[in-house]
Formats: sequence, structure tokens, C-alpha cells
Amino acid sequence: MSDSASAFVSFLDRHDDAAWAAIVSELTPSMHEVDRRATRIWFAFHPVKLHRALAASADPEETAKRLILKGSYRLTDQIDTSAEFLYGHRYWPEVRRQVAEHAGRGSEAPLSDQIKEVAGRIAAKVKADTSFLTGITAVGFGTLQQVGLELFSQPAGKGSYGRTWNKTPDQIVADRAKDDGQGIFGFLKTVDKEFSVRFNEQTPGSSFKVVNMQDVTTAAAEDKGDHSNLDSRCRPGEGPIPVECRTAACGTCWVGVLSPTEKISPPNDREINRWVYFGYEGFTGESDSPIRLACQMKAYGNVTIVIPPWNGQLGKLDRKEKSASAGAGEIN
Ligand code: FES
Repeated sequence: MSDSASAFVSFLDRHDDAAWAAIVSELTPSMHEVDRRATRIWFAFHPVKLHRALAASADPEETAKRLILKGSYRLTDQIDTSAEFLYGHRYWPEVRRQVAEHAGRGSEAPLSDQIKEVAGRIAAKVKADTSFLTGITAVGFGTLQQVGLELFSQPAGKGSYGRTWNKTPDQIVADRAKDDGQGIFGFLKTVDKEFSVRFNEQTPGSSFKVVNMQDVTTAAAEDKGDHSNLDSRCRPGEGPIPVECRTAACGTCWVGVLSPTEKISPPNDREINRWVYFGYEGFTGESDSPIRLACQMKAYGNVTIVIPPWNGQLGKLDRKEKSASAGAGEIN
């Protein structure tokens, strides 16, 4: 690795989750709406603190056990697929190439400026609006930080990269806001209104029905698809969202919410209090948080969610482990 690349990698590694949250917030106005919540969700699903805890551990398997990590929690195992729910993911092979090249040149300019610059360069190359590239380019830098330059510099693998997601960004945003029709006597319905929860937006048919004001995990259990085959965390007969307690006690059912927040109940006190215990990023109790516990979330309309590839209890990171993984000269 060249000196400039190595200096850039060290610079990048000084960014913790708080620094990333500030960067994403600064970049949000430059993103198309289709990827605003999706980008926040990605950074919540792949927190730097988890990466650091595992990297600093003498026995990562033991650490994973202690944090009760389940599913696919390492970004190295999903470099090309972790951001599939972003519209900008269709440009991922170019994003990966350009971010790696940028890292080779090195820079210590504010990261948000670097992301904007690289996103603009990619947009010109792929002939797309920069607003479609800003979120996915931020994800590219975030991925590089966690997987290292050597791995990240390899070409992206073969894949469809969103090309089967045959909708414009505006259509996707409009679809997320739309509710199922309730029939000609729908105006008479109240609690018996029925809506849809989409859990894999790009794949037609990946949805289940939810009755008005029903919690999302109870509704998911009516989906009798063979989800345990695709995700070992899913229990047979419980639907596509991994669940254990349904009482906000375990943190298993956390999801990202892509659709507007007025279609779901706001976080209740128990959910807010337990969030600190679980240690997940991306939730401060604000009503528009894109990260929620599905078992505490009631639907008032069609909802589009993303199911994270892992769950665990990062709140178990003790003081010693946190300080060992904190890194010197942190930017936050
Ligand atoms: S299922 Fe345990 S917190 Fe939701």
C-alpha cells in the first residue's frame, strides 16, 4: 500500500459512528429522497463499534458469543450485497472502483467533501444524477473503512446490482407512500383496514398483510413462506422477521423502515429505553427514526422495511472493550 493510501486509511479509520451520523446528516440534502432513509439504515446496520469490537478482540468468536450475535454480522462477507436496498446500489461496481482509486490518492479533507467529490465523478461516469450516487458513495467509504483497502480494491463480483428493480426513484418513493385500496366501501372501514408490509422491496411478492394497528411481527407470522431456509434466524412459521420475545426484551426484531413514519406508531417508552441496552446505532428516540423494533411497531398503512442481516446485543460491550476498540485521535 502506498504512503498516501495508508495515510488515507488511517484518516478514514478515525471516524466513529457519531462522526458518520454527522456526515450522513450533512449529505442528506444532496441525496435523492429514495436513498435518504436507506443510507441512514445502512450505517445503523453496519456500525463501526461492532467492527472495532471484533477487530480488537483476541477471540472474535468468543466476543460474538458474548454479544449474542446471530446472522451475518461481518461486512467482509457481504461487501457487494449489504447495500442492495439502496437505489444507488445499481452503480456499486463503479462506486467500489472509484472509492478504491480515491483512497490510493489519499486526502485528509473533510470526509463529506470527499464523498461529494467522488459521487460527482461517478455520476459523470455513469451518466446519472449525483443525487443517486451520494448515499451509495458514502456507503462505499464506510465499507472500505471496515473491510480494508486490499479487499475493497478487488473488483465487484458479478451480480444484477439493482438492474431488475425496474422503477424510477420517484416511482419507488411514490410506491412507499401509497396504501392498498380498501374497496368501494373502504370509507366504512376502521380497524379492519388491511395493508401490506414489504420486506424486500426489489423482489415482487415479498410482502405480507397487516391489519390496521396490528404490530408488524404478529402480522409477519401469517406469512407461511419458507423463510428459515433463507435466514437461519427465522423460525419456521414465524415469517420473514427474526423474533424471539415480542416484548422489546431481546432486540432480535430490529428493522429499517423506508416508508414514511406517519404509517407506523411512534416508538413507545419501552422501545426507547431498551434501545440503549441493545446498543444498536441509529435510534435516539426521535419519532422519524428509520430503525425500529418490529414487535413494537404498529402499522397504519403500507410499510416498507429492510431486515438487517444480523442481530445481537452490542450494549454488552464493556468499558474495557470499548476503550480498546475506540482508536486514537477519533473524529466525532
Ligand atoms: S422480538 Fe424481541 S425485541 Fe422484538
